[in-house]
Amino acid sequence: MEDQAEYDLLKQMPGLLLPWYDRHSRVLPWRENQDPYRIWVSEIMLQQTRVEAVKPYFERFLAALPTLQALGAAPEEELLKLWEGLGYYNRVRNLQKGAREVLERFQGRVPDSVEELRTLPGIGDYTAGAIASIAYDKPVCAVDGNVLRVLSRLLCDRRDITEPSAKRSAREKLEAVIPKRAGDFNQALMELGAVVCLPNGEPRCEDCPLLKLCEGRKQGVERELPHKAPKKPRKKEEKTVLLLFRENRLALRKRPPKGLLAGLFEPPSLPGTLKKEEAENVLKDWGFSFGPLLKLPAAKHIFTHVQWEMTGFLTEVKGKGIGELVWVSWEELQKEYALPSAFKAYVPEIEAHLKPKEKQGEKDLRPV
Ligand code: ADE
Repeated sequence: MEDQAEYDLLKQMPGLLLPWYDRHSRVLPWRENQDPYRIWVSEIMLQQTRVEAVKPYFERFLAALPTLQALGAAPEEELLKLWEGLGYYNRVRNLQKGAREVLERFQGRVPDSVEELRTLPGIGDYTAGAIASIAYDKPVCAVDGNVLRVLSRLLCDRRDITEPSAKRSAREKLEAVIPKRAGDFNQALMELGAVVCLPNGEPRCEDCPLLKLCEGRKQGVERELPHKAPKKPRKKEEKTVLLLFRENRLALRKRPPKGLLAGLFEPPSLPGTLKKEEAENVLKDWGFSFGPLLKLPAAKHIFTHVQWEMTGFLTEVKGKGIGELVWVSWEELQKEYALPSAFKAYVPEIEAHLKPKEKQGEKDLRPV
């Protein structure tokens, strides 16, 4: 579409979108007030995680760490525990670093400008725009995947939305028409993408307040948009997980400080898909004597850039083994260690072996 025609179309959007949002917005815990700390936490949680999944985490996190000061002072293990199951743990580490910087550099007041917000760890254009607009009503946009999809359909824009220029261009177009209620406008756009202008060819156009404006719909291509260049296939990594039990404790090992699941504890594992004899040889090399090895079911976990294809064995061991293992009880696993969700397929086995019999069947903290 021509620039002027696009502008004229977009200019009509707030007048249709805001009344719709007033009637249809979901009641969400971070929408209770405009506390910038709450909004910051919610936006970090909502990166890569669905609204419904975030809700209980958000409530629990805010109950445990209700202020920037509390977050700044929290021990890392507590943070990781509160984040357990959400994944992408660097998000919460950066959140804490950011909170500490706000306490030191900004006298404890979360900045209200995109430029200053962008200087904080873990805050990019999207999050800076979301905090500045939702908490402070600054006339800036927050363009995420949902918003890009809505806009590409609305304007019948066939350009590839995975190009970095797509976000910049969307931001410029939206900021030209952003209304006074900037935070509501941004959330309304996100909401429209999440509940009406659905991905994968499933838009619910009959419920859309922007139906009469939508150029993609006029041209009958709403289901084909947005255009996305195909992703590179994820790298597959095979690994063999060892669930080793000794005197009612499970062996865990700390991951390296950088990279995937940095610094988290996990059951020890070995690269590749090992046969039983190969796994037995490893256990011998590690100095254990052990009972029969039971085969664990195969499991898969998808990260952003890699995919783990796991197999594994479970056994009772005796002996000291290698020094880098820590041996944790069920209680400790509940309270002190954040087991990455990648291992959730093996939690029932761990539970069956470690959890005191009288507590089996009780629900635990860990929502996966
Ligand atoms: N996704 C990201 N931020 C959101 C918000 N504030 N409300 C709903 N969905 C969101």
